[in-house]
Amino acid sequence: MLSLRIARLRESATIRMMEKAKELESRGVEIIHLDVGEPDFQTPKEVMDAACNAMRDGYTHYTPSRGLPELREAIADKLRSENGIDVTASNILVTPGSKQALLYTFLALLDEGDEVIIPTPAWPSYWEMANIAGAIVKQVPPKDGFGLNLEDIEALIGEKTKMIVINSPNNPSGAVFTKETLEGLVELAIRRKIIIASDEVYEKIIYEGSHVSPASLPGGQEFVVTVNGFSKTFAMTGWRLGYLAGPKQIVEAAAKIQQHSATCAPAFAQKAVAEVLAHADKLVKPMVREFRRRRDFIVPSLEKMDFNVRNPAGAFYVFPEIPGDEPDAPDFVEKILEKAGVSITSGSSFGGFNRSVRISYANNLENISKAIERIRSTISS
Ligand SMILES: Cc1ncc(COP(=O)(O)O)c(C=O)c1O
Repeated sequence: MLSLRIARLRESATIRMMEKAKELESRGVEIIHLDVGEPDFQTPKEVMDAACNAMRDGYTHYTPSRGLPELREAIADKLRSENGIDVTASNILVTPGSKQALLYTFLALLDEGDEVIIPTPAWPSYWEMANIAGAIVKQVPPKDGFGLNLEDIEALIGEKTKMIVINSPNNPSGAVFTKETLEGLVELAIRRKIIIASDEVYEKIIYEGSHVSPASLPGGQEFVVTVNGFSKTFAMTGWRLGYLAGPKQIVEAAAKIQQHSATCAPAFAQKAVAEVLAHADKLVKPMVREFRRRRDFIVPSLEKMDFNVRNPAGAFYVFPEIPGDEPDAPDFVEKILEKAGVSITSGSSFGGFNRSVRISYANNLENISKAIERIRSTISS
């Protein structure tokens, strides 16, 4: 009865773990969630006030499918001034969340049997978006820690390769790709005529290094679709607002899909972000300061327990290898959930990292410190 497309889709492992945690919670067990993919902060007051005003001013209906003109202009301004990408509003499509922007990009570019390259570790939804599009995934493990492995990426490019998906700052590793690496990637994409989908949702959550948009690099403009959103920057995951920016042909193709699916992104959210976007750096600062404090606590704490950790330079996750005498990650996370009451995510969902786990620090320091204590006593018992 159901489509083949559905048969190809896998359930989200994160959601499965969360359900398991909920089930334990319903039995009265106190679980500390370090599995969370969203900031534990309130949306900044400025954004909420702007949204309330927008609702009162009648921004409660459909907007133009591509987005409110003032938001598209504000995004184009931001991309030009902060990211160095030479775009106008005509290169922008506003979407209900960056996830939707990514899905449109996959659907706009990939036919059944086409190939997409995913450097790992990577966010599991990329695989499933490829599945929805009927495309085949070629995954490439990292080099020198969590860096892009350009040689192996190039070796996998074949006649059917249409796209490569990158994400910096990275979920789950927290890695921030260097300008030099991205220059190499853009050069490769141009030479082999493939599109880079660059997922930049963690752009503002960065502690070391600086964010580079591949679309700003020489020749990048024609070969990069930049995807971003406001879920993480403004802690507004529930509002659903994101965008893609890229070559007009791709933006128009994605816009067609949106016209016949979501129609548009929420009106009041668009209006609010149009008003505050220019002040994003100021609004995000306190949140990033707190994330950094947590990172600086969690990394040495894990090292003391013999986890092999690379210091994340961005996002709010750490992706360590678990101590050698522990079982593989899928069993380890179950053990930690059941015995320590701490919910973390197995690295197996991020491209088969069976000895790694993703620990989110989108939880307050008190809970993180309690969770560390519980993990410590579980693994040493
Ligand atoms: C790497 C990455 N891209 C995209 C998203 C989706 O964000 P949005 O809420 O804008 O759809 C997430 C959310 O967890 C993410 O981790």
